[in-house]
Amino acid sequence: MQFLAPRRGFARMLEMHFGNMLEEVIGDKGLSLVEIEGIREKTAIAHSQIHERKWDELAFIDLVNQDTAEIKELADSIVKNSDLFLLLGIGGSAMGPRAILEALQPMHNFRNHPKIFIYDNIDPRTLDAIIEIIDPHRTTVNVVSKSGNTAETVASFMIFWEHMNKALGSEAARRFIITTNPEGGILRQIVRENNLMSLPIHPSIVGRYSVLSPAGLLLSEIAEINSDELLLGAKDILTKCSNAELWENPAYLFSVLLYLMCVKEKRTVNVMMPYADGLKSLSEWFCQLWAESLGKLGLGITPYPAVGTTDQHSQLQLWMEGPEDKVVIFIRIDDYGSNIRIPKVFETIEEFSLLSGQCLNDLIGAAAKSTELALSNASKPNMTITMPSLDAYHVGQLFMFFQICTTFMGFLFGVNPFNQPWIEAGKNNTFGLLGKRGFQKQKEDIARMAKGNICWKL
Ligand code: PA5
Repeated sequence: MQFLAPRRGFARMLEMHFGNMLEEVIGDKGLSLVEIEGIREKTAIAHSQIHERKWDELAFIDLVNQDTAEIKELADSIVKNSDLFLLLGIGGSAMGPRAILEALQPMHNFRNHPKIFIYDNIDPRTLDAIIEIIDPHRTTVNVVSKSGNTAETVASFMIFWEHMNKALGSEAARRFIITTNPEGGILRQIVRENNLMSLPIHPSIVGRYSVLSPAGLLLSEIAEINSDELLLGAKDILTKCSNAELWENPAYLFSVLLYLMCVKEKRTVNVMMPYADGLKSLSEWFCQLWAESLGKLGLGITPYPAVGTTDQHSQLQLWMEGPEDKVVIFIRIDDYGSNIRIPKVFETIEEFSLLSGQCLNDLIGAAAKSTELALSNASKPNMTITMPSLDAYHVGQLFMFFQICTTFMGFLFGVNPFNQPWIEAGKNNTFGLLGKRGFQKQKEDIARMAKGNICWKL
């Protein structure tokens, strides 16, 4: 199935190859057309939830029409006056920006200015290293938090606020940009009280669906990644993924196939395997989206990030002969934008001469196809998405495609794909542990757990 470009005559779209999910190709471990047709009622309901915009959180769809002028203006001034752009955020607020950067500006810090670092995990050792390295006079700190309340992000903001203020005095405030909910949250309050620069994340957009909001686009412009191309790709694929007809809508079909594999064939693990180093972080971003959006009420699918060809030499054995619980999703790139040829050296050795003259582009493509073939021949279901090239336009397509897939899949399962009660519970437990007012119960629960803890000294 080709995702035909509705607007730009010459832009090639992603393609989805799903034959290896079907009975007629891989035998009785595949899905029959009757099974697929059998869930028409469910798909119609799921489609209407999206089409009729029954959820405010679908606001992520409208990001394709946003005006990027303010983001670009801000990025220009940051590039001029900074040697380091430091993004503080966690979860969707860090994984989306990182996926953009690594997909579209590989090795950025070795080649471009300003350097970019995403600090998400509040590991004190990492923070020590950053503090040691940065020059506050040439650093811009971008604090990204949709809620504006997340303890990890707020804590690192506090540390850098003090550090920068000690070094720069009243000038420090001009080196912070807060990307957050325009209406609520502690960070918004700080913005107002200290007159800080800020960018909005629409109040209804959930963190893991915020990659195409200013959360991802400011970093993108700073790294000279064209955010308008990201949005255009997202917009073009959205048109194709809005079709009510299952066989005409690649996002719906992708979700239906994986849904049926999960509920009928008990394939509850989805491996996401791009054949590109640059898409490793995008694969992790997908895993967050899939896990946090769908893992509810005893339902969901366990996502599993991988990268080709690396994991052919690490995980493939398990997929071929281990438990029959997986579907592998490959992402193949047609044009890597690089065509390194293997030189003709050591030609007298057969194993070497076989490789001589081949392009790495072709070699990695051949490795992907051979893995796909090995799985299919062994009746292991798999799908392949092909990208014409690894550029902003097609990465924008991937982001929107997977967001629609996830939303639709949530509705097939009958869960809310936009909430994350157990992430919130974790945040509340942290507040309890820290003694925040109103979180006494969490504090007591944690104390009780500590008492029951059994520990061996090793
Ligand atoms: O998707 C989500 O809601 C979460 O993963 C959040 O992105 C994460 O918890 C960080 O939240 P926030 O951006 O509000 O700081």
